[in-house]
Amino acid sequence: MVKLTYYGHSCFLLDDGQNRVLTDPFLTGNPQATVKAEDVECDFILISHAHGDHLGDAPEIAARTGAGLVGIPEVLGVCEARVPGLKQHPMNLGGSLTLPFGKVRMTLAQHSAGVAGGVACGYVIYIGDRVLYFAGDTALFSDMELIGRKDKLDYAMLPIGDNYTMGLEDAALAAQLLHAPHIIPMHYNTWPLINQDVRHYKEITEAMAQAEVHILAPGQTLELA
Ligand code: NI
Ligand code: MN
Repeated sequence: MVKLTYYGHSCFLLDDGQNRVLTDPFLTGNPQATVKAEDVECDFILISHAHGDHLGDAPEIAARTGAGLVGIPEVLGVCEARVPGLKQHPMNLGGSLTLPFGKVRMTLAQHSAGVAGGVACGYVIYIGDRVLYFAGDTALFSDMELIGRKDKLDYAMLPIGDNYTMGLEDAALAAQLLHAPHIIPMHYNTWPLINQDVRHYKEITEAMAQAEVHILAPGQTLELA
């Protein structure tokens, strides 16, 4: 049984019982975070792009835990400049990488990279018997339909906060394109600018797509049945 814990914003911890995978570990300075960067344990960290609310504490957590950093080379370069000698798994768009817990594939995202020469990305994550799509920061784009066609997704983590990413209506459309039966909204209510009525998101998404929306409070754990 894979467990998913939400730490607020776009930070999730996936745990298959043996391996722990952390996404976009923005903990220091994140008003929603329920764990400190000094206390989180993980084996791999997936980074979507170099904005501070995504790359976050990744270099320091990797240095303390020995976790491997997964990301675009330019983004990993930012980590390396902050803390030299970290374990790195550079990838690029469309590529897959096999890790001890399963496989990750780096997907497109429509967003700026936060570092010159880089691009923002998302991930399809195979862990245990589950397939997850972590969209990172992104606008709605029609190739999401391709992602859902290639990988039979179980869960999709989608940004809904608007302003910097998709808002409610576009994220509902994204759920429809992806054909994921379970949607987990993220990247909202961290600051007033991205405050959203997540209950309304659940309503419109469940009306539009064949999906159940799981609203997670920061600190909450979901068993991915
Ligand atoms: Ni961003
Ligand atoms: Mn962001």
